[in-house]
Amino acid sequence: MLDIQKIKESARFIESQITAKPTIAIVLGSGLGGLVKNVKIQQEISYKNIPNFPVSTVQGHKGTLIFGELNGVNVLVMNGRFHYYEGHSMQTLTFPIQVFNEMGIKKLILSNAAGGLNPSFDIADVMIIRDHINLMGNNPLMGPNNDDLGPRFPDMSEAYSHRFIKLAKKIGEEQKIKLQCGVYLGVTGPCYETPAEYVAFHALGADAVGMSTVPETIMARYLGMEVFALSVITDLGVIGQIEKASHEDVLNAAAKAEPNMVKLVSELVAQL
Ligand code: HPA
Repeated sequence: MLDIQKIKESARFIESQITAKPTIAIVLGSGLGGLVKNVKIQQEISYKNIPNFPVSTVQGHKGTLIFGELNGVNVLVMNGRFHYYEGHSMQTLTFPIQVFNEMGIKKLILSNAAGGLNPSFDIADVMIIRDHINLMGNNPLMGPNNDDLGPRFPDMSEAYSHRFIKLAKKIGEEQKIKLQCGVYLGVTGPCYETPAEYVAFHALGADAVGMSTVPETIMARYLGMEVFALSVITDLGVIGQIEKASHEDVLNAAAKAEPNMVKLVSELVAQL
């Protein structure tokens, strides 16, 4: 169950540290870390100093909440996210999303690294997530429902805002950013997939597979937030192109895609 008192305590603490009201929250996964360079940072708070906030453990993932201005818009940026495979419960890893909602933030941008399943994808492509498949075997909304926060059986017919997707595609065309668009399938990790799993997930209708994003999107939609999400394709789970996957290769491919991701998100926030 969502612990409202803890959510409120964290929200009020963050509000006490910042000077204006952010309207968009951005969760930086692999590949979007460079966005921070475009943010006029006004405040950076270590997760460990925020009451009740979880702390991230993965190499390459940082752990600060940044408040600042991106392209003229007040944003709150999670520089480092939490993953199910770290051992956090689904409720814990979506805690920050609940806090952002409590602060009145109703727009959420998520990014991640993912394995490409669609044969037309290349490494370092950027994919707009148009829908997801939850194969994580869990859901952050399990347990008694608080009807004041959201419905027992939330609608997921538009998990990723069609309006945001349309805008992003338009920006991609204008700025000549190559964009793919597809379905993200969420798994727990931490293993990468076997070749048989990659084939199976593609057959299920997924274009990319990764270990994050799905819990945050579910929580955000439950709370009535609008979501936009991007994957950077860091390796290919396509028969004939499967190579040994390593975290280092994933980070390198993500770094290659970073300028495009940063350009797109910087433009997008100004138009949402
Ligand atoms: N599978 C799951 N998660 C990932 C992958 C992958 O191939 N690449 C980056 N994150």
